[in-house]
Amino acid sequence: MNKIRIGLVGLGRLGFKHAENISRVIKHAELKAVCSIVPDELGRAKAELGAVNCFTDYTEMLDKADLDAVAIVSSSDLHGAQTVEALNRGLHVFCEKPLGVSFQECLEVEKAVAEHKDLVFMLGFMRRYDPSYAYAKKKIDEGYIGRPILFRGYSVDPESAIGGALKYAAHSAGQFIDMGVHDIDLARWFLQSEPKSVYAIGGCFAHDEYAKYGDGDNVSALMQFENESMAFLLAGRTAPHGYNVETEIIGTKGQIRIGAVPQKNLVELFDQSGVTKECSQSFPERFHEAFANEMQEFVDCILEGRKPEVTVQDGVRSTQIAEWATQSFKNKELIKIG
Ligand code: NAI
Repeated sequence: MNKIRIGLVGLGRLGFKHAENISRVIKHAELKAVCSIVPDELGRAKAELGAVNCFTDYTEMLDKADLDAVAIVSSSDLHGAQTVEALNRGLHVFCEKPLGVSFQECLEVEKAVAEHKDLVFMLGFMRRYDPSYAYAKKKIDEGYIGRPILFRGYSVDPESAIGGALKYAAHSAGQFIDMGVHDIDLARWFLQSEPKSVYAIGGCFAHDEYAKYGDGDNVSALMQFENESMAFLLAGRTAPHGYNVETEIIGTKGQIRIGAVPQKNLVELFDQSGVTKECSQSFPERFHEAFANEMQEFVDCILEGRKPEVTVQDGVRSTQIAEWATQSFKNKELIKIG
């Protein structure tokens, strides 16, 4: 097998980025087909991605495109069913986060992955493939901060992207499952434990539109883990300055911060009003290396017969914990697990 032939579903805000990467950046991969229900997106794919077969129906793409693998970057509420359908046809699957919009749905995907041990399944927790996060993880595993005590993660989209976020809200299953899963995954990864209690709060501080989904525009959760370590996360949509993803891990002997100022680059601009550090404005800008690295890892795993570090269980657990956080937020209750 020289090149892994990939069919990609979803050509929206993130899907087109993955499509460009597969078509131009990822080694040993071919973007064989794309699928979207938005005609303009398919038109753009035809114009910009070269010879690629375009489909408006996912099942038809699986039937006709002669694929080895699929990349699922469609709306979150489709991930589970599309993953199971692809696995049952013998295709390797890369699926964007979240694995599913409910714990129950995730269990069905987990079952399908277990039934197809010969196939590679990978979930798109791309922060683990960002060089800074990977470096922080290495330092923690080497004991640099001693015993990790606290994880703090802020993930706040820019206010300038609120239009797209509100449009997507009906499919997202809420801020914890849509955005909070990233920090839930990182907390589990860095703290090497599972939560035993979750308490969440939040509100509609700038966008009442979220109230009709029982959601907030900024929500936060505090968790205690089985090994007694703590995690605090904020998921929001109203950062005035840009795409604010900031992480801190505090240990008994030191602490590590990643992206403490969400800088676009290392440049500082000096003028009459002072010194400015520009901020990154979007997830493709901040995590462009991570998105390419994770897709390369998916392709390499298929070619080398390996399994990726991010597993279906990471998807199941992160959605389950995000569901508990959502429940805590909605019912104003402390959730004790187990
Ligand atoms: P979007 O709303 O911009 O695009 C959704 C895409 O799904 C569209 O191309 C649409 O045609 C396609 N789609 C919807 N229903 C379909 C159907 N029945 N059959 C085939 N295609 C269908 O969404 P966006 O922002 O690109 O998000 C897509 C996924 O990527 C979401 O699950 C989201 O959680 C995830 N994501 C992950 C990010 C990360 O940081 N890892 C960042 C942004 C999104």
